[in-house]
Amino acid sequence: MQEFGFHTVELDRSIPAVVILDQTRLPRQELYLTLTDEESLREAIYHLKVRGAPAIGVAAALGIYVCMAGKKALKETSSFQKEFSRVKDYLASARPTAVNLFWALERMEGALKQALRDGKSVPGLLEALEKEALAVLEEDRQICRSLGENGLRLLKPGMGILTHCNAGALATAGMGTALAPVYLGQQRGYGFHVFADETRPLLQGARLTCWELSKAGVDVTLICDNMASMAMKNGWIQAVITGCDRVAANGDSANKIGTSAVAILAKEYGIPFYIAAPLSTIDANCREGKDIRIEERAGKEISEMWYTHPMAPEGIKTYNPAFDVTDHRYITALITEKGILSPPFTASIRQALSLPEG
Ligand code: MRU
Repeated sequence: MQEFGFHTVELDRSIPAVVILDQTRLPRQELYLTLTDEESLREAIYHLKVRGAPAIGVAAALGIYVCMAGKKALKETSSFQKEFSRVKDYLASARPTAVNLFWALERMEGALKQALRDGKSVPGLLEALEKEALAVLEEDRQICRSLGENGLRLLKPGMGILTHCNAGALATAGMGTALAPVYLGQQRGYGFHVFADETRPLLQGARLTCWELSKAGVDVTLICDNMASMAMKNGWIQAVITGCDRVAANGDSANKIGTSAVAILAKEYGIPFYIAAPLSTIDANCREGKDIRIEERAGKEISEMWYTHPMAPEGIKTYNPAFDVTDHRYITALITEKGILSPPFTASIRQALSLPEG
């Protein structure tokens, strides 16, 4: 985002291409990648070059438009639609947990179907896809801001705020979800003290949250994941805010591995634990947390990555879930663009999504 001095994900209309800031290089190098085909887009999402639920959704929406723009040679709308479905399934296979990926692709398919019903030919279909993708991007920016305003009402000047993983400007097309209230507070002189969990094993907290917060002049202290209890006991934390990859209908929330441990600690210390997420992150089709598919990633991310030589015996068994589910009873409230959703979440979520009584 321009006001942060970097762009997480945007569209270069002249090519067209999706341009992303390669987050695997941060904080050492600010390198932008220009992506024009489905292989490079899927690879960028899988390898976390673009990551964070809302940013993945935006990249997928822009991405499927860009991929289809590269297939102008398809003159028949039926072959165009068939190819769209293939690319959609391919991009959807990149990562399983963040529902925004599927939500964005479904939304793009809806726009395509509407354009087909309107009798558009291939150039018209492309126009409709471009328009929808840019709407997804712009809405994400607006949503982050509203979410930030709503979240800020829960906070007081001078508070210590713990966050886990990265749910900032690098995880969205806007000012982030969990970090949006922090940025707005910063602009208004709240003087927050942020504590960033390093977030093993991929270090999104250390590499990304610390990078973007210090770039914006926010006071941030890096701690290892196992230091959160100590920071809470010291009285340094008055609120915990994290982002989220998928919220089930009962409020159970999947976020970066380690989040549920922080939530349980917060309850023990009597500290409010907030999840900040756009409504597009709520998946009413998942009744509860155990219906959410949790991504499991390569064991080498634990045993070798970041080290100059492997830090575990060769061939050691590993278990590397990328996310965990925080039970709704540990969540004080969900911060959304439509306001604060309080327990019981089944009712407040249903109301926010305008769903009929179940
Ligand atoms: O594996 P990642 O880096 O994509 O995981 C990201 C998170 O867990 C974020 O907290 C979540 O996507 C919310 S981003 C606003």
